[in-house]
Amino acid sequence: MKFIFFALLILFSSTISNSQNLIPMPAIQTESEYSGAIDFKYVNISSFLLQDELAVFNEYASKLGNHTLTESIAESQTVYLVLDQSIHDESYFMKKKPGQNLEIRGSEAGIFNGLMTLLQYTFEQQEEPKNSIQNMHDYPAYTWRGMHLDVSRHFFDKAFVKKYIDMLALHKMNVFHWHLTDDQGWRIEIKKYPLLTEIGSKRKETMVAKNFDPYVGDGFPVEGFYTQEDVKEIVEYASLRHITVIPEIEMPGHAQAALAAYPQYSCRKSKLEVLTIWGEGTDVFCTNDSVLVFLQDILDEVMALFPSKYIHIGGDEVSKTRWKACDDCQLRIKKNNLKNEEELQSYFIRKMDTYLTSKGRNMIGWDEILEGGLAPNAMVMSWRGEEGGIAAAKQKHQVIMSPGSHCYFDHYQGNVKSEPLAIGGFTPIEKVYAYQPTPASLSADERKYILGAQANVWTEYIGSEEHVEYMALPRLCALSEVLWTGENRGTYEDFKERLHHHFNYLDAFGFHYARSIFDVLPKKEMKNGELTIALSSTYDKGEIKYWFEDEVMKMKKTYKGKPISIKSSSSLRAQYFENNIPMGNIMKEDFVLHKAVGKHIKSSIDPNTKYPGDISVLTDARAALPPRVAGEWLAWSGENPRYSLI
Ligand code: ACM
Ligand code: ZN
Repeated sequence: MKFIFFALLILFSSTISNSQNLIPMPAIQTESEYSGAIDFKYVNISSFLLQDELAVFNEYASKLGNHTLTESIAESQTVYLVLDQSIHDESYFMKKKPGQNLEIRGSEAGIFNGLMTLLQYTFEQQEEPKNSIQNMHDYPAYTWRGMHLDVSRHFFDKAFVKKYIDMLALHKMNVFHWHLTDDQGWRIEIKKYPLLTEIGSKRKETMVAKNFDPYVGDGFPVEGFYTQEDVKEIVEYASLRHITVIPEIEMPGHAQAALAAYPQYSCRKSKLEVLTIWGEGTDVFCTNDSVLVFLQDILDEVMALFPSKYIHIGGDEVSKTRWKACDDCQLRIKKNNLKNEEELQSYFIRKMDTYLTSKGRNMIGWDEILEGGLAPNAMVMSWRGEEGGIAAAKQKHQVIMSPGSHCYFDHYQGNVKSEPLAIGGFTPIEKVYAYQPTPASLSADERKYILGAQANVWTEYIGSEEHVEYMALPRLCALSEVLWTGENRGTYEDFKERLHHHFNYLDAFGFHYARSIFDVLPKKEMKNGELTIALSSTYDKGEIKYWFEDEVMKMKKTYKGKPISIKSSSSLRAQYFENNIPMGNIMKEDFVLHKAVGKHIKSSIDPNTKYPGDISVLTDARAALPPRVAGEWLAWSGENPRYSLI
């Protein structure tokens, strides 16, 4: 591909405010006013079964500096938690009761969700007293509201995993997909095969930035794994928050860390290192019987640790190179009348499906498991777009949507020049908020198979806890509303106003989040040979200040709405402030006034659809900087394009 210049995406905004700053917004709210104290002090629980939900609420309330709820038979400022066994889902009813009391009714999961709503209400009350709470019937649009975390590429300890789970619970997410194994590290203790962690959990170093070729390593070892006791503790921690933990054990690809420990289960059986470069290893599990036994032994230990109905076996990006050259794999193809290596992959996955089904579990795989035919009970996680999910739903298989376009939180979320290095892509929060997990092309019957969606946090370029939180938040807030409130959610304008308040909530819990939504957005215009730049911000509560980095004084001026004229090559900087506090990153736009600026050109071939865009970005005077993200860069594949003036 040939990459040339770039164009920027612009977000537009207007202000609509919602008096209730809840995220995710409840599905149905009735009666707008509850005029009573919201600083509840007491609780009355209808069943001892609700002790756990109450304990988690109180733990969070004390972190926020809110009142914790004390069990009492007091007659006012009391929350009544009423366990209603006739309610089988995660919904809850919240309603005011006489004497400044409140009732939350539902199943245990429903009451937990209601308590998470109450927690936000009470925090809000502390910040900005309103004395208003709404009666509501609140329920999720989707049953699968997931977040994934890759702990293979970088390891995150038990305490952080719990913090991550808190982040999910506070937003009514109910699935934690734990990506435990990959080429770059095996992170779960398997007692029968101790070398998986002794060898597989350690890599000698990590590739620096994107230095694939020539390779540059950083020389720092990375290691870590979870003992089975750690895993039990985390599964229990999540369960108390009504979150199911789904383990992912990658097979037959993404297996190099396991094969570094047990090379006998590869096709070549030769010594391998835990991979230090990003991308997938060519050495994958062989498909002979001993490998199946090895993996089934591992799954036995995994199933004993994870009570989830679903077990994820990966199945993505399986290189066929070694299988093609392997006698065992070729024999397997012949004996089973398989056509090719794709069918061998499907054969392998079916074996795992049968095994998990025989143990009363269901298999999940990434959408590659569709290739060569879907295993009978498999659930598909659609990541290469939605096509895999659509095909699976048409075959009456359950689906989780997780397309790169909207659900990959390892992608950039703001201007690449001010964001930390990321894998690529561009998934700003507005795009996440616009996501519709159920494709319109499915029939009413087929739609039932779309259980929900999840976002993935792959950690190749994410080495610290703060950075994980930064990539997850606030996009997770938007996703929680897509999945919980669904079609009932309001506009992005309304969401972003609530989010502005919600940042205080995230601060109170000590979460690190991206402030990219506050970034200044430039819009260029070329008229009569004059280049002008208009600036805007998503919020209009403060002001934009701008300056030129190449001026000696770097004088900051307030942007008043009149586009800035760019008369010479220069370096424009701008930042959004509220109450004189900088809110986002500094916008950096460097202009080079070369001879082609403003000329209208056309290209002999259209850009590749993965990096589409308007050809005028080539002559807009703005300098392009790596990394190359869609929307900012154009790309052509194959032939070089020819340009001509129009
Ligand atoms: C994936 O991103 N390889 C599932
Ligand atoms: Zn083989």
